[in-house]
Amino acid sequence: MNPGLNNLQPYPFQRMRALFGDAVPNESYAPINLSIGEPKHPTPDLIKNALISELDKLANYPLTKGSDELRNAIAGYLTTRYQLGTINSDSQILPVNGTREALFAIAQCLVEKEAAVLMPNPFYQIYEGAALLAGAQAVYLNTTRENGFLPDIENVSKEQWQQCQLIYLCSPGNPSGTVAPAPLLKRLIELSDLYDFTIVADECYAEIYPTNGTPPVGLLEVAQSIGRSDFRNCLVFHSLSKRSNAPGLRSGFVAGDAKLINSFLQYRTYHGSAMSPPSQHASAIAWQDNAHVIENRRLYTEKFAAVIDILKHDINIVEPDAGFYLWLNLDNRPGDSRSSNKDWQRSDTQFAKQLYQQYNVTVLPGSYLSRKSDGVNPGCGFIRVALVADLEQCVDAAKRIRDCIKQ
Ligand SMILES: Cc1ncc(COP(=O)(O)O)c(C=O)c1O
Repeated sequence: MNPGLNNLQPYPFQRMRALFGDAVPNESYAPINLSIGEPKHPTPDLIKNALISELDKLANYPLTKGSDELRNAIAGYLTTRYQLGTINSDSQILPVNGTREALFAIAQCLVEKEAAVLMPNPFYQIYEGAALLAGAQAVYLNTTRENGFLPDIENVSKEQWQQCQLIYLCSPGNPSGTVAPAPLLKRLIELSDLYDFTIVADECYAEIYPTNGTPPVGLLEVAQSIGRSDFRNCLVFHSLSKRSNAPGLRSGFVAGDAKLINSFLQYRTYHGSAMSPPSQHASAIAWQDNAHVIENRRLYTEKFAAVIDILKHDINIVEPDAGFYLWLNLDNRPGDSRSSNKDWQRSDTQFAKQLYQQYNVTVLPGSYLSRKSDGVNPGCGFIRVALVADLEQCVDAAKRIRDCIKQ
């Protein structure tokens, strides 16, 4: 048995179910679930039709490397969306079955036992599981209001960098929605030169940003802007799940350093993780279309505006740069003198349970997304609210959250 299995923590949703136990939600309210980051906007017809049109191809084994059609579509997407001169669709792009499996597999491919894998804290749970099952040590970099919800890479010791073989970066971040700015990405690239580690940038929320906002900067365009067309040590992970409301398609890609991509392709050939041919075609169609992405963005922007308007008088909100989560600090309430009192902290778990019982709204306690590091669990006192339901439901849920906060 892989000894890393014993170190895995229960998944946040499992912990949440245990927390709620046999609590009975107030049935005078309709249930609204904003705990899971599962997009609920309809999958565009052009993707569904493309999938159907290629069903005959189920008769063929797919290539792990993916079809030329798909890799070319991804290259087109990357060069249009980002300030990228070129990217080689043959050697610098690899389709994957959603970013989750690829974020996991990349650590198994690149990391040696007992090396260090750095990650933000709170974090997407796969980063930690991937590190532990690779036999590595997970090192948590707290992201807090004080450091702008960004990993403080200047605080990482020389010894830690020397042990580091891979760092996960999530930008836009889950849960805070913070975009890592270009100077931070440049600095990380410099550090990767010094200490030779891979930067794994999870950019799966890169297309969900406010309609009038700036598109989040990406790691590859920053690398190219400093003259590194080979994207050395850099990998970005993208997905159609959030961009195109197709989480069931299981489609994404990895792009960047050709040497790393080549090793990953070899790993994946043995792993047997090729994407089915109809999914490849549907994905190629999706990456080439931007109209549905613009509409998707509009829907999220509308929901953020409405929800923030309802909550802002009772809780100080840090508006996310991007993504579809609100990361609410329950202690941070306008005019509340207790906000600055560290002895008083509203419990995120108690609040989530109360919200469920009294108002039938499900949100995720922040402390379930993070670990104690440097003496604190930076998710404590926060809840993660995924604005995935439709506008009416999000508005309704916001009113119930407000009422629960006021109690
Ligand atoms: C930060 C982050 N990365 C990756 C994923 C995985 O997405 P998928 O496997 O659907 O591409 C998610 C899903 O919620 C996520 O929040």
